[in-house]
Amino acid sequence: MQSTYKELEKKIRALEKEIASVKLQNLELNKKSLIHETIFSNLPLFIMIIDFQGNVEDMSALLLKSTGLNLEKENPIKGGELLKCIHHQDNPEGCGFGPHCKTCEIRRTIQNTINTGESHYKVEAELISFDRIIGKRILLLSTALLKQSDKKIVVLIEDITEQKKFETALTEQTDFLNALIETISNPIFYKNSDGRYTGCNKSFENFTGMKRSDIIGKTVYEIGPKKLAHKYHQKDQQLFENPGTQHYEWKIGTPGGKIRDVIFDKATLHDVNGNVTGLVGVISDITERKHAEDLIRKLSQMLMQAQERERQMISCELHDSIAQNLSTLKLYFARILVDQPSLAEKLREQRADISQLIDQIIMDVRNLAYDLRPPSLDHLGLVHALEVFCEEFAAKNKIDVNFHAVGIDGITISPEMEINLYRLVHEALSNVQKHASATRVVIKFVGAYPHIILRIEDNGKGFDLKDRERSMINEKRMGIWSMKERANLLQGRMDIHSQLNRGTKIVIKLLLKDKKKWMGKNRL
Ligand SMILES: Nc1ncnc2c1ncn2[C@@H]1O[C@H](COP(=O)(O)OP(=O)(O)O)[C@@H](O)[C@H]1O
Ligand SMILES: [Mg+2]
Repeated sequence: MQSTYKELEKKIRALEKEIASVKLQNLELNKKSLIHETIFSNLPLFIMIIDFQGNVEDMSALLLKSTGLNLEKENPIKGGELLKCIHHQDNPEGCGFGPHCKTCEIRRTIQNTINTGESHYKVEAELISFDRIIGKRILLLSTALLKQSDKKIVVLIEDITEQKKFETALTEQTDFLNALIETISNPIFYKNSDGRYTGCNKSFENFTGMKRSDIIGKTVYEIGPKKLAHKYHQKDQQLFENPGTQHYEWKIGTPGGKIRDVIFDKATLHDVNGNVTGLVGVISDITERKHAEDLIRKLSQMLMQAQERERQMISCELHDSIAQNLSTLKLYFARILVDQPSLAEKLREQRADISQLIDQIIMDVRNLAYDLRPPSLDHLGLVHALEVFCEEFAAKNKIDVNFHAVGIDGITISPEMEINLYRLVHEALSNVQKHASATRVVIKFVGAYPHIILRIEDNGKGFDLKDRERSMINEKRMGIWSMKERANLLQGRMDIHSQLNRGTKIVIKLLLKDKKKWMGKNRL
């Protein structure tokens, strides 16, 4: 009895153990099916489980949703039908047997897993689908045998059609850009934020005389002369410190040893977060343009000089010959018919009119001669001629003109420089009268070795120089332009400072280095 009881107890314990182990197994199973459930129902994945005949056993919720099929009702469904392959009914035997199936990468991959038991990871395959719009879809396929299960395999599908389209568009765009950059005749280069070249175009290779492969990865110190490299580096640093664009003129030595005038246009490159990742630069060779500009400048200066000589010649001719002759004519005319008391009243009146007209012509000719070459310049010297001119201008236009000359008296100023300075003041004052609506002008004419400075400042309405410069060319306004050219002609420069309602200040600075010309009070 005792033994039977003990045995029973033993059996109960064994049974309890067994029950506990089954419970544990169940728990394990529940856990696994929970994982399975999570993967199948909740994750955004296209997963199907198919048997060795290609029949779909199960599929993830997302795949089910996207196909709109009902597995229970429409069983068995073949993989091809599920994926909406346009060929799935090509053959009477159905999916997997048509001529197209022999070349189908999807079928080939699945079949290989069935045959060898090997898994595949992200095999790219094409599928012509009849889903909504017939179109080529690009799929990535991963396959594996389902463990502990009889002849079933799991297939994970990723549709990368859109991604591929995007990649193709991006490649096309990149190819287009590369072709464009290669075709452009301007040298173009890119650098990363460490200042290392990351790329360039053919034109940059030609410009530097170096191959792309010798440029990429190098800094400017490794490919250029040290002194120049340092300047390049500094400019790049400035751009990195103030991201955006950069534009400047530069002189560059070419491999052939020639110096070229160039313009650099650079811009910083950024990542998606806006961090600076590098820069791109375009070089424009403006040597020819500069030469043409220099030539135009020289020609226009020569023209101005010739014009000045011509004016002087005409002025002399008008004054010395024509005005003289007119005066003689007036004298002769006065004598005519003097001893004719019987002269008709009418004729007498006409004679007086003609005489008056001759007077007027003489006056006009003299004025013209004066305008062409102010004689005061020759007789009084520049400073006094300017004083006289300013006084006349002030009286005529009711504008207060304040003229000061300091340190000029002792300087030997060439006649060419004198007439040009005179004309500069003339044009500046004429602009004040025409455009400024000013009540006061201050002119300072200062000599301080080695500079001669002429400052003309009005209290008028001023103007926006940048804005006006653009329209000035179209309107063929040449006053300011010719003033600048005159200043250049005298080896100097002219700067205009003007602001709306704040008046205009013109500063002309000439360089006169010849010490022999600085005498008298300015003797060095
Ligand atoms: N002192 C000034 N005050 C205001 N505007 C001026 C002054 N000087 C020049 N300007 C402006 O600059 C323009 C160009 O001057 P300029 O080249 O001498 O041509 P123009 O006198 O024939 O108009 C003028 O049309 C005027 O708008
Ligand atoms: Mg003018």
